[in-house]
Amino acid sequence: MTINFKWLPPKLTAAFLICCISVSANSREIYKDPSQPVEKRVADLLNRMNLDEKILQLNQYTLGWNNNINNIGEEVKDIPAEIGSLIYFDSDPALRNRMQKKAVEESRLGIPIIFGYDVIHGFRTIYPISLAQACSWNPDLVKEACAVAAQEASMSGVDWTFSPMIDVARDPRWGRVAEGYGEDPYANSVFCVASVEGYQGENLADTTSIASCLKHFVGYGASEAGRDYVYTEISPLTLWNTYLPPYKAGVDAGAVTVMSAFNDISGVPASANPYTMKDILKDKWGFDGFIVSDWGAVNQLCNQGFAYDNKDATAKALNAGLDMDMMNHAYDRNLKELLEDGLIEMEVIDDAVGRILKVKFELGLFENPYTHLVEDRFLRSNSLETARRLASESMVLLKNDSLNVLPLKNYKRIAVIGPMGDDKKNLLGSWNAHGNPEDVVSWLEGLQNEFDSSHYEIKSEMGCDFDKEIEGAFDKAEDLAKWADVILVCLGEQNSWSGENASRSDIHLPTIQENLAQIVSSTGKPMVLVLSSGRPIALDNLEPLFNSIIATWQPGVEGGNALAGILSGRINPSGKLAMTFPRSTGQIPIYYNRRKPGRNNQGFYKDISSEPLYSFGHGLSYSEFEYSDLSLSADEIKKDDKVIATVTVRNNGNVPGKETVMWYISDPVSSITRPVKELKRFEKRNILPGETVLFKFEIDPVQDLAQVDSKGNTLLESGEYYIMTGDKSIKLRLTE
Ligand code: BGC
Repeated sequence: MTINFKWLPPKLTAAFLICCISVSANSREIYKDPSQPVEKRVADLLNRMNLDEKILQLNQYTLGWNNNINNIGEEVKDIPAEIGSLIYFDSDPALRNRMQKKAVEESRLGIPIIFGYDVIHGFRTIYPISLAQACSWNPDLVKEACAVAAQEASMSGVDWTFSPMIDVARDPRWGRVAEGYGEDPYANSVFCVASVEGYQGENLADTTSIASCLKHFVGYGASEAGRDYVYTEISPLTLWNTYLPPYKAGVDAGAVTVMSAFNDISGVPASANPYTMKDILKDKWGFDGFIVSDWGAVNQLCNQGFAYDNKDATAKALNAGLDMDMMNHAYDRNLKELLEDGLIEMEVIDDAVGRILKVKFELGLFENPYTHLVEDRFLRSNSLETARRLASESMVLLKNDSLNVLPLKNYKRIAVIGPMGDDKKNLLGSWNAHGNPEDVVSWLEGLQNEFDSSHYEIKSEMGCDFDKEIEGAFDKAEDLAKWADVILVCLGEQNSWSGENASRSDIHLPTIQENLAQIVSSTGKPMVLVLSSGRPIALDNLEPLFNSIIATWQPGVEGGNALAGILSGRINPSGKLAMTFPRSTGQIPIYYNRRKPGRNNQGFYKDISSEPLYSFGHGLSYSEFEYSDLSLSADEIKKDDKVIATVTVRNNGNVPGKETVMWYISDPVSSITRPVKELKRFEKRNILPGETVLFKFEIDPVQDLAQVDSKGNTLLESGEYYIMTGDKSIKLRLTE
């Protein structure tokens, strides 16, 4: 008999189990038979487990060295063999295998442990931070990078990454903007799918695949004033149209786990929220993997004023659909008592355990519980090549004025000035897993690799530290500036200034860095700002000093080679912003897809422009692209029809270049107001000098023109829409 075991809804699941499964403890061990369907194996195993074994499956502790400064934990000494999961901080599979052996050989049923870890933008071969990756607009390349990260991780004993982070984020004060794919829901959705596919591969059971985890469900990006761990005020409409879409895309792409968020969503914390976890994720979307809490998020329900104590928090979290407890010691301590008190039902526990076992079976952990040691698994040449390409495509040329300083041509003496000039550690960004600063190619090293020393002279000076003076360093920087033909001013943020628990109240660079730029600029030499950061930076003071500005983000190990290639002109920059650059902190929140104002010609700031310094989608190239002939295959369509928009793009420059065509829609009037424009598709292609390329956008009205109402229902209204790309726009009429 094939049992179609679905974990929806829990009550039915339990009834199903009780009615259909009659496996006695002595009967054939179906769960050990890989030829049996996963559903049947789960049901069989679940039926054999006692309550203690079930409860332990729902917990995650740690093993190995915890290098996350935000939650350095006591290493777990006496880990029970029946534990469900461990966060594995080591990169040596030997320790993991020892622990796994204990689980497989010393526990009654031999259930393997699933080992998780934060593999966010690479494991040892560190790629650009996720925000930078989004600026590449190249999901295939992101997928490739995630596949390499999965290989390095799986060969090191990790089965599961806590990535991708797909929290739409519109406040650059929030340090975690570095970890996501920017301010747009569609961009987050596309890069979410790319990374899930990259991590999970063709088959989750392949030795090179790892499970992905969509985080942080949901709305964490709305953290008030950009502070971390705080309240979020999210209307149902915004929840559905802004924060949920990337998660839906990830679930549809087959992500097998989701992490619940720290934030309180308009009065109900995300980690005890039955509406988001049960009603939407599990019931409406049919998610049949498991949800893990964020670190300590269950206990935090008490701080948030939602639970009295650890026990109450456990009941609220599990009953709301949270399956696994990450480092709260709440489920292990309280579930038995809660069950006895009748505050938790056995069906709910069974449902959660069944989901976790299902993922373990799908990962092939029962058949292959151990990691085989592979020497030379890190920094392979093809992994570095991917890192180089992704870093090159992520960097955004923000400014290149009429002097056309870039690409560097006739300058022989190049000065590299600033605290980032020869820095390595900070180019790794936050959450850099097992990244090692020694692996990083610094700006200076990249330039030395790129520019032939028989023609060019490159000298460097720090000028100052990131946020403090170095005695005499300004003078040395000024002297070097006088010597130079061109000055690369290398400024930016330390990697600890972004990421978790790393909010900033002011997104300017520290005054000392701005002063350095000022002093160097007094020499009147051509100046390029090489900016490295984990967030958009307010450049209102710096921008006027520079001829050219390039946002490199935190590009990972190959950053220096990527930057040098762009500076020399060997690589044509092709990144475009996935997040708006405000002029100043006071403009925040500022993002492109805001709703329309009541007055178009009033309501501006009195002290500064109300426009951002660099908008979403901005990014220059050494080529010039001309858009023309935007047209539609029909001007009027019905709701079930499809229509194709096309535009031709010509490269009017002298060098090949990659252009990303972004397709937006705008709905001028609707019964629920909508953003000024919404990104619906993008495509990046290489265009040769003088070549004209046709780009297409096939519009499906339900998918591309509709919005979602506050209950999650699709709302597609007839009337006029505008299809926009580049500086062009065309009207489309939708009839009943
Ligand atoms: C972070 C998560 C991370 C987890 C495990 C938490 O503090 O919010 O993003 O996956 O720790 O390290």
